Amino acid sequence: MTTDAVSLRNVHLTLPSRAGNVDILRGVDLTVRPGEALGIVGPSGSGKTTLLMVIAGLEQASRGEVTVAGQSLTGKGEDELAAFRRDNVGIIFQSFHLIPTMTALENVAVPLEFRGASDALEIAADRLKRVGLGHRLDHYPGQLSGGEQQRVAIARALASGAKIIIADEPTGNLDHVTGEQIIKLLFDVKEQNGTSLILVTHDRALAQRCDRMAEVLDGKIVSGAHPGASS
Ligand SMILES: Nc1ncnc2c1ncn2[C@@H]1O[C@H](COP(=O)(O)OP(=O)(O)OP(=O)(O)O)[C@@H](O)[C@H]1O
Ligand SMILES: [Mg+2]
Repeated sequence: MTTDAVSLRNVHLTLPSRAGNVDILRGVDLTVRPGEALGIVGPSGSGKTTLLMVIAGLEQASRGEVTVAGQSLTGKGEDELAAFRRDNVGIIFQSFHLIPTMTALENVAVPLEFRGASDALEIAADRLKRVGLGHRLDHYPGQLSGGEQQRVAIARALASGAKIIIADEPTGNLDHVTGEQIIKLLFDVKEQNGTSLILVTHDRALAQRCDRMAEVLDGKIVSGAHPGASS
């Protein structure tokens, strides 16, 4: 039996807000197998982005067990979580989180350099070409369109070589043709590298192209939380 890529058991997340505590995740169970693509759908505000943050180790669960890439994230400190993220997850955020003072090429190369790659710039250039941005290597995020920034974020996640790729609406800012190219690229990387892909999308047709679709409603997963008995 192989270790699951992601395993969440009864995960709760409560965050303080000015109106009092908000129970954002309310008992989430989720299993993702290595090499599996999971599409996550659900209404706006249901907790999808928050769920990704917990899987990525960017938010600590208030309660429950979170195991990702064989590591329990419970009780890890900030430094340990940062190291965990660097080595295990490629994250494509809903808002791109690019570093504004760095060019597209540098943004993609940074995580590679952190991991000690000597050919970080070459790999970064190659990934940017694969998302159709070979002509934008030296542009700063402020000089790129929304869709181009999104593609830089995607190139950066792919360049990290992580076994788990987490993507929050990766095609939300792209036209249909570019979006389709990006999705194909994500699925290709999954096939070639055995990467697990966790994809949040409002596009049910896209979620259905994943190996499995899970539905989030009001801080819980109401369907598709675990692989079927047949798989
Ligand atoms: N840091 C925070 N503090 C308090 N409440 C928060 C915080 N982050 C998110 N929330 C609330 O948690 C709920 C879930 O937010 P989340 O961003 O996970 O939704 P989502 O499913 O990704 O929505 P969308 O489809 O619009 O992106 C929302 O009601 C949001 O207002
Ligand atoms: Mg969201």
